[in-house]
Amino acid sequence: DKVVLAYSGGLDTSIIIPWLKENYGYEVIAMCADLGQGEELAGLEEKALRSGAGKVYIEDVREEFVRDYIFPVLRAGAIYEGKYLLGTSFARPLIARKLVEIAEKEGATAVAHGATGKGNDQVRFEVSVKALNPELKIIAPWREWDIKSREDAIEYAQKHNVPVPVTKKSIYSRDRNLWHLSHEGGELEDPMQEPKDEMYLLTVPPEKAPDHPTYVEIEYEQGVPVAIDGQMMGPVELIEKLNHLAGANGVGIVSLVENRLVGMKSRGVYECPGGTVLFTSHRELENLTLDRRTMHFKEQVAILYAELVYDGLWFSQLKEALDAFVAKTQETVTGKVRVKLYKGNCTPVGAESPYSLYRHDLATFGESDFYNQKDAEGFINLFGLPLKVRALMERKVGKR
Ligand code: ARG
Ligand code: SIN
Repeated sequence: DKVVLAYSGGLDTSIIIPWLKENYGYEVIAMCADLGQGEELAGLEEKALRSGAGKVYIEDVREEFVRDYIFPVLRAGAIYEGKYLLGTSFARPLIARKLVEIAEKEGATAVAHGATGKGNDQVRFEVSVKALNPELKIIAPWREWDIKSREDAIEYAQKHNVPVPVTKKSIYSRDRNLWHLSHEGGELEDPMQEPKDEMYLLTVPPEKAPDHPTYVEIEYEQGVPVAIDGQMMGPVELIEKLNHLAGANGVGIVSLVENRLVGMKSRGVYECPGGTVLFTSHRELENLTLDRRTMHFKEQVAILYAELVYDGLWFSQLKEALDAFVAKTQETVTGKVRVKLYKGNCTPVGAESPYSLYRHDLATFGESDFYNQKDAEGFINLFGLPLKVRALMERKVGKR
């Protein structure tokens, strides 16, 4: 029998390979999704083979990741608990999809992953696999084995000829892709501790950023960013470019104590430079193009959408239905937004759209033919009628 393992190249997923062979007798197929984690991919195939994998897949899914996972969440405006741009959360359903595709192609009967039994990721992987192929068996070694520490892991690796990295492991648990980098663990586990400057890998600490601002103009077509400073760009390139510009200005650092799906609160620090620019500018364009009620309703949808993504319900009926709503709202979210990047801030400074609902003749304090100030009196009379009726009642019963 075969099992497909979500493989990252780290020590933890490397020892899962011999562990699956030893405890389940499987032939192990290692699958690593290239989501833009960069240098972590170097030497990965060889490492997996030396650890005992029968076959290795390295799937470049960067384009698909941006198009089908990042941009839908951007269009939805979904941010978890007001801060977290969901960079790890929406990567998991894509990895799950690749696990399932390869399992089906290889005739494997099981999939496995290296997420712990205390986190969100296990839920996201497994719920997604169930949604895509309910027959596959799912193995989560972290919930079964008695490897508890780094030392246990190294000992197990040495016994099973798994190459042990010579570099000292970082104290942080990190997850990196094109969109973001997350940090958990170490001193961050004390919510009172400020993250150290040296921890950041994508972003310059704001106080060390340049003393002059950088202006960027982002162009959208139906809620999808397509160009930077007038230059059309593919989705992957566009995010890389914004990460570079925003990271250099200290933009996109967030620290929060978040509510995990499995019950506990955990402290996370995120670097999401380009993503922060995109969320800020996209929202600014919506301010021009969406009418008041649609915008306010969409704000509610965004909260729910973020919760679904965080909770791993990417392939759910409700998520699909919300996508349909969002798609309708994005039909006119086309235009340009200029933002100013300066010492950790990303401030929109200008926006225009052919579908703009902003009318100068309406908004201006000057005279206008299109708006008659006298109309406001009748409007206010009817709008305030229930409040007036209530006040009269309260007076009658002696409450006022
Ligand atoms: N707390 C974030 C989330 O649940 C980040 C998780 C990071 N995962 C990791 N394997 N290091 O989405
Ligand atoms: C893990 O526990 O594997 C990472 C953290 C998380 O999933 O929330």
